[in-house]
Amino acid sequence: MKFSTRLLFASTALFAAFGVCGCKSSDDSTINIGEVASLSGGTATFGQSSHNGTQMAVDEINAAGGLLGKQIKLITEDDQSKQGEAGTVAKKLISRSKVSALLGEVSSGKSLEMAPIAQTAGVPMISPASTNPKVTEAGDYVFRICFIDPFQGTVMSKFAISKGWKKVAILTDTKQDYSVGLTQFFKKHFTENQGTITGEQSYGSGDKDFKAQLTAIKAGAPDAIFASGYYNEVALIAVQARELGITVPFLGGDGWDSPSLTEVGGKAMEGCFFSNHFSNEDASPVIQNFVKAYEAKHGAKPDAMAALGYDSAKILFDAMKRAGTTEGKALRDAIAATKDFPGITGSITLDEKRNANKPAVILTIKDGKVAYTETITP
Ligand code: PHE
Repeated sequence: MKFSTRLLFASTALFAAFGVCGCKSSDDSTINIGEVASLSGGTATFGQSSHNGTQMAVDEINAAGGLLGKQIKLITEDDQSKQGEAGTVAKKLISRSKVSALLGEVSSGKSLEMAPIAQTAGVPMISPASTNPKVTEAGDYVFRICFIDPFQGTVMSKFAISKGWKKVAILTDTKQDYSVGLTQFFKKHFTENQGTITGEQSYGSGDKDFKAQLTAIKAGAPDAIFASGYYNEVALIAVQARELGITVPFLGGDGWDSPSLTEVGGKAMEGCFFSNHFSNEDASPVIQNFVKAYEAKHGAKPDAMAALGYDSAKILFDAMKRAGTTEGKALRDAIAATKDFPGITGSITLDEKRNANKPAVILTIKDGKVAYTETITP
């Protein structure tokens, strides 16, 4: 036996013995997928919904025989809605659980923590719902299956203009990259189209008293108030605004999407509007079948994160099937090639920046419930 052949033999035996072949979880009986979600804490409904949707997709594929001859194992870590925690658990999923891919997070700030970690490790990451443009700029292993905030901000600015609301005040959560970005994109389009910003105020996630900011906003007599933050603070803001005699509508983005918005906000949210990825009132059979299946399992109608979580997992499975492997680079290339994928949240094609170009819906709060008003295409 020649020396080089012997070396090859020896190293193959070594690889076989220690499983050091670089193809993740190849010697496991399952394909491990990591999910990072805020199952508890300030934005708990985001993580709970996206997890429910993701798990549904996993259950479906496993019931249908799995993928590449294996079952899918979803390993979910709760980041408790805490800044810093998403990065920590993403690292753990990669190093300890040897996941082939990461799904998550919903909120942009947390996806921004995960993205460089996934990129460095060469583990593909798909965010179901983070809309801040910077998320996918982390590198070619980082994808999202939703639209981005330059589009969402424009959608809401155009909507305000179409309603004849020319003077708008803005309230931003400066602790959230999402809110800061959305404010910036709304403001840019609005002021470039003859809109006036009557005042800009800010707060931080977790705050409970917004009276000072709202009093200043009231003095500017706006036609509407753009609140770019997440549902929990927005609901409190609306309640306190009505107490101060502010009657104009609030406008916002997908971060409002939560059952808590109307539970906490009550009447204060009536007649307000926000943009979103999906409406569970959409009559299309694909959506209604999903709504029925989800409701049967979870006792509530799916919100946008549930649908996006479901779609993100389906897109990952589709890419694994096309790649024929879970190896990082091949899987990354297959995800990047996603084209016209029929999702619950619309047809999904990933562009060269690893983002999806999809329509937005505008929802309103009517009689205490979230109701569909219109669809805006990019
Ligand atoms: N787009 C939000 C963000 O980037 C997250 C979100 C998506 C919230 C969909 C609700 C619904 O932070």
